[in-house]
Amino acid sequence: MPFPPIKLGSHLVPPVFLAPMAGVTDAAFRATVLDFGVLPTMTEMIASEACVRGNAKTLRMMDFLPNESPKLVQLVGSTPERIAEAAKISADQGAEVLNLNMGCPVRKIVQGGSGAALMKDPSLVRKIVHAAVHATSLPVTVKMRLGWEAEQKNAPEIARLAEEEGAALLIVHGRTRAQMYAGEADWSAVRAVGQAVRLPLLVNGDIRDAETAQAALRASGADGVMMGRAALGAPWLPSQLASYLETGALPHPPSQAIRRQTVFRHLARMRESYGEEKAVFISRKHLCWYSRGLPGATAFRAHVNAALSIAELEQQLEALWA
Ligand SMILES: Cc1cc2nc3c(=O)[nH]c(=O)nc-3n(C[C@H](O)[C@H](O)[C@H](O)COP(=O)(O)O)c2cc1C
Repeated sequence: MPFPPIKLGSHLVPPVFLAPMAGVTDAAFRATVLDFGVLPTMTEMIASEACVRGNAKTLRMMDFLPNESPKLVQLVGSTPERIAEAAKISADQGAEVLNLNMGCPVRKIVQGGSGAALMKDPSLVRKIVHAAVHATSLPVTVKMRLGWEAEQKNAPEIARLAEEEGAALLIVHGRTRAQMYAGEADWSAVRAVGQAVRLPLLVNGDIRDAETAQAALRASGADGVMMGRAALGAPWLPSQLASYLETGALPHPPSQAIRRQTVFRHLARMRESYGEEKAVFISRKHLCWYSRGLPGATAFRAHVNAALSIAELEQQLEALWA
């Protein structure tokens, strides 16, 4: 303590990153996280194949926010050529930093040889990182797990290859692919990655608050943390944690008035991004997360999941905070 900013290409960034989460960290959510302070945020994973095909929905996922700094795209794919093309498209769309997904455990992704499946093929990892680094002048970062399974925890080897090929920063989720999200993240296993390379390193997995962040940093020796699920329904948490790591003082949790204002603002952003009909469906999960721990949350969730208009959702929110 305190943890200094991290060098990421020409950017100096806080030591707390928001994790990419497909179906969650769209522009509306990222804007809401950034309302509380600037820290690195990332697009949801973007399939390099779809990006290269010019899929409109995929390209819309690269709608960055004016205050996003740096503008960070996560690409997922299994062929160096497609990754290189997608990297160029990302740069044209305004990306300032690239991230390569080598940690996604979802069957559909690993069956295609992407995400965490790449960790089983170190020579392909080398080619993919090489292709991404040489496609543009943008810094390339890599997000991985400890390995495919307990018997194959090769994150240090993958990290070394990535460093040799010119990667700028590494993020390691302290679980194997076989673990999916079960059990607890093994932060101490991330230490071997830091010992294998000189690159800045982020530890990820089960970081919820100041205590877990401190414990993860101590166990892993990492330079910073990446926070995912704890920020669902609590978009103020990443920047609170960043303040804590930078200054040693934890800001007060936001008042109920601020929380209420945050949900309404997030909902308005979802309506703006997706239009009313789609926003009703997309916002349900977020509203349920925001309601956690509040009196009346169970009834609120039932109403929210049945609501068909934004006006109905707003009414339910008014009632929840009444
Ligand atoms: C709903 C959801 C979607 C996710 N999508 C992605 C993704 O698109 N790319 C990625 O690298 N990781 C993805 N992850 C993994 C997270 O980035 C993170 O590594 C993981 O949740 C562990 O961190 P946490 O314990 O702080 O949530 C996703 C996780 C969740 C829960």
